[in-house]
Amino acid sequence: MPSTPAPSPSTGAPRPPLPKAELHLHIEGTLEPELAFALAERNGVKLPYATQDELRRAYSFADLQSFLNLYYALMAVLRTEDDFADLADAYLARAEAQGVRHAEIFFDPQAHTARGVPIGTVIRGLARALDGAQETYGISTRLIMCFLRDESADSALETFEAARPYLDRITAVGLDSAEVGHPPSKFKEVYALAREAGLKCVAHAGEEGPPAYVWEALDVLGVDRIDHGVRSMEDERLVARLAADQVPLTLCPLSNVRLRVIDDLAAHPLPAMLDAGLLVTVNSDDPAYFGGYADDNFTAVRDALGLGEETLRTLARNSFRAAFLDEATRAKYLAEVDAH
Ligand code: ADE
Ligand code: ZN
Repeated sequence: MPSTPAPSPSTGAPRPPLPKAELHLHIEGTLEPELAFALAERNGVKLPYATQDELRRAYSFADLQSFLNLYYALMAVLRTEDDFADLADAYLARAEAQGVRHAEIFFDPQAHTARGVPIGTVIRGLARALDGAQETYGISTRLIMCFLRDESADSALETFEAARPYLDRITAVGLDSAEVGHPPSKFKEVYALAREAGLKCVAHAGEEGPPAYVWEALDVLGVDRIDHGVRSMEDERLVARLAADQVPLTLCPLSNVRLRVIDDLAAHPLPAMLDAGLLVTVNSDDPAYFGGYADDNFTAVRDALGLGEETLRTLARNSFRAAFLDEATRAKYLAEVDAH
């Protein structure tokens, strides 16, 4: 849903998108049908769709699980280090065009190791693309390794141990996949190990799951950010806690509509969350499936919620405030927002 950029008042040229950080982006969720078919052919994988259009027609979801079923199935095309490098490179090219200056990228190792793809293949492939991102696209990057919460706590621990040789490439651990029935506390042990190893911690919570899961992510896992967290608004005490501690929330508005977390964008609680003093950011989650990348999400909330320029600038500033950046780089990016 890209829309025409507003003309610059001084030159009449289209204005570039606001500089922003993308903090909630599953790299496997950037697999566009075009690349999926190209990789299927390269790897001799048969897809259950005859054409890209037929695949796109499957992008109609009743809830998170119905999306996850397709998301995991399509990963069958990702097999080699080159595949992961090409996937990440294609994302970075799109992100540059959307004003993304810094990207913190989730990946799901268990979704690949379960298919016989070694974790080293995944991490080396992604890292190769990320290594060239600053020079090629002007984007700084981080990797966040997610545990699948509908797999066992032991599987998460095994995954963490398998990733130990690569921890210098990983900034944080995260928690994703089917939320309801899989509370954050299930992963207390692996999060303690991650923190001991010097990693940051984030977790999806309060997307489909209740506010109690957000409390657990904060108090049991000790996370630095909450991914989604939209359902926090159902609990006044939780909102007060998140506001007092300025815990960043990585909202994904187009995802919330596509996965029916909210009825429509005009009903999104983002304005109420800002009014409550929460540190909210706008992100794209799985943009190949949900109809838009980072700036498409900014534009969509602007149009549906009537957000003004200053509010959009606040959201862009928040993205850098919430990012895992050193203070000098953060200040440089914040100055870019101010100068926009
Ligand atoms: N994995 C990819 N996208 C996800 C989402 N929106 N929620 C939970 N797990 C995910
Ligand atoms: Zn997500």
